[in-house]
Amino acid sequence: MSNSTSKKKERFTSSGFILAAIGSAVGLGNMWKFPYITGKHGGAAFFLLFIVCLLLVGLPILLAEMTIGRGGRGSASSSFYNLSGNKFWGFLGFLSVLTPFLIMSYYAVVAGWTLHYAVQSFGGALNGQGIDFKQQFVDFAASGMPVVWQAVVMVICGGVIAKGVSGGIEKFNKILIPGFLIILIVLMVRSVSLPGAAAGIEFFLKPDFAKLDAESALVALGHAFFSLSLGMGIMITYGSYVEKQQSLGKATFAIGLGDLIYAFIAGLIIFPTVFSYGLEPGEGVGLAFMALPAAFAQMPFGWLFGGMFFLLLAIAALTSAVSILEVPVAYAMQKWQWSRKKAAVIISTVCFVLGVPAALSVTGVLNSFQPGGKTIFDWFDFSTSYVLMPICGMVVTLFTGYAWKRAGEEAGLKGFGYKLWMVLLRFVSPVLILLIFLYSVGIISV
Ligand code: PHE
Repeated sequence: MSNSTSKKKERFTSSGFILAAIGSAVGLGNMWKFPYITGKHGGAAFFLLFIVCLLLVGLPILLAEMTIGRGGRGSASSSFYNLSGNKFWGFLGFLSVLTPFLIMSYYAVVAGWTLHYAVQSFGGALNGQGIDFKQQFVDFAASGMPVVWQAVVMVICGGVIAKGVSGGIEKFNKILIPGFLIILIVLMVRSVSLPGAAAGIEFFLKPDFAKLDAESALVALGHAFFSLSLGMGIMITYGSYVEKQQSLGKATFAIGLGDLIYAFIAGLIIFPTVFSYGLEPGEGVGLAFMALPAAFAQMPFGWLFGGMFFLLLAIAALTSAVSILEVPVAYAMQKWQWSRKKAAVIISTVCFVLGVPAALSVTGVLNSFQPGGKTIFDWFDFSTSYVLMPICGMVVTLFTGYAWKRAGEEAGLKGFGYKLWMVLLRFVSPVLILLIFLYSVGIISV
């Protein structure tokens, strides 16, 4: 493995780093998963539980990843090696490079869908009465269009990455995130002022502690992990671009808070809209591409609000996608001494090619190929979110808790703060990650 010192230093500014990390954390999970699991598992009661999970597992591991990156100053793989001098840790770290590589292949497909829907909505094509939005999505996903949009996403992400850390990733986030915030607030105001919005707010937030059970706890934990983009080498790679004088502890809280606020507002957009038009609340594809378009089609100026909503999803997805792609690109630059441009072009192309079967498997020609009862798209999702991410999270927590003795120094933690962090990393996180893993692969049920 090569050393990073020979390379020209690439760095984030301090606010740029926090924005880029928030851009990564705030993704489709905040928009289409968090609100639904909150509503389903007891509203405000679940929200509190989620905050506890963020504090116990999410933030300690987020800090650990950034610390490994800044201390190791390498890729998600070589940082482990640089800090421990042990090839085995380097190999374990390599899993954190493989994971985003696979995630990117299908994440770009979904990001492409959001762009397509934004364009369609602004163009008025989703505004007619009596459209069957379910069928419309099925037909769209079966066509060749998703592959075209996937290519657009890869070109955007590859282009941003090719421009470098401060000139590309940081600038991209600095432009998009404030725009994102404005759209978010406009949509929230629109949504909570719809007639019948109160029922949606009630579904999302009414505390019901009786609904909290072991399953809610595992869902909250898994989401705390996913939502902060952990277990994918992202925060290690971004951390390697952070200046020594930046406080990682403060950054950790800022990123966690940013992620939480965005998720909260997303819920205030989605449920009032869905309930106001008498639609079924749900999550994922069904919510974003079937239920919500039906609501926007009935809303005055629905093409505008619908377009803004899909633009919001697209920005959330793109700022996350850029962070995913940067992990293998940084790895290739370091491992094979490729230039940034070359790495961006080659890795984007490979991810695109890998993602095409995923794109065509949703409802398209490859849909009938379902080994083990899952489409290719679902296999990409399952193997990364449920298997590789917890494993990579475990590697981070064990490495920082047990193997690397100088983590506290690099993280700027002393005394009580350091002890607490270590207790969480050594004892609490490994057990909880193991539980999430066993639960998600179906070995234990609750
Ligand atoms: N953290 C993102 C979210 O909440 C998801 C994500 C997944 C980001 C994979 C990067 C990589 O949606």
